[in-house]
Amino acid sequence: MPELGLPRVHYAATDSTNERARQLAAGGAPHGTLVTAASQTAGRGRQGRVWTAPAGTSLLCSVVLRETTALLPLVVGVAAADALASLGYDPKLKWPNDVHLDRRKVAGILAEGRPAEGWAVAGIGINVAVRVNDLPEELRATAASLELQPAEVEAVLGLLLTALEARLGDPEDVVLEAFRQRDALLGREVSWSGGVGVAGGIDASGRLIVSTGEATVLLDAGEVHLGTI
Ligand code: BTN
Repeated sequence: MPELGLPRVHYAATDSTNERARQLAAGGAPHGTLVTAASQTAGRGRQGRVWTAPAGTSLLCSVVLRETTALLPLVVGVAAADALASLGYDPKLKWPNDVHLDRRKVAGILAEGRPAEGWAVAGIGINVAVRVNDLPEELRATAASLELQPAEVEAVLGLLLTALEARLGDPEDVVLEAFRQRDALLGREVSWSGGVGVAGGIDASGRLIVSTGEATVLLDAGEVHLGTI
């Protein structure tokens, strides 16, 4: 029984499980507190984006963490990949933590926190039983689904919590190596707000290494796109 996941609050619908978990964390909720929802009205993604999931077909969860690490965004991505791998999929990680199947995004992670207040929230959305055609049109070409049944969302949650608990206990170098084994960007052309280059893996701090031809750039935040745009 993983220590992550208790206490648990489940909503049929809420604005965002990350918002609920942040509120609980700020109010003193213990390490491992879990918020889940069947649907979100204001699901949040990275970089101010929205996270859309048809009701009842996705894993939508946020975990309050009191023992955390600077590598949390990568740790959660690696754990999500572990959970999918345990089901027989071959997930890849697009830095910093998008989980891909066959170059399409199947899971997204929003890690946020207040280190000074001693908490972080790991928010994870996994398209467990989503029919990609039910997603907004602009997502259909880039989204993937595990193509499981809605009743299997709970089992995926259990695998995820077990994997997250294990990865939170791993030394940093083990997490970094696990990420490198699933690095979707390695050797591929990427663009970001500052330019274009070729991704060369991640460094010991989890930063993305990009060679532009003239220089090596270390990206520690922000958004990277595949190919030049
Ligand atoms: C991203 O890829 O941009 C991150 C998406 C994170 C979505 C999950 S769904 C559960 C949790 N609650 C939220 O509002 N966001 C995260």
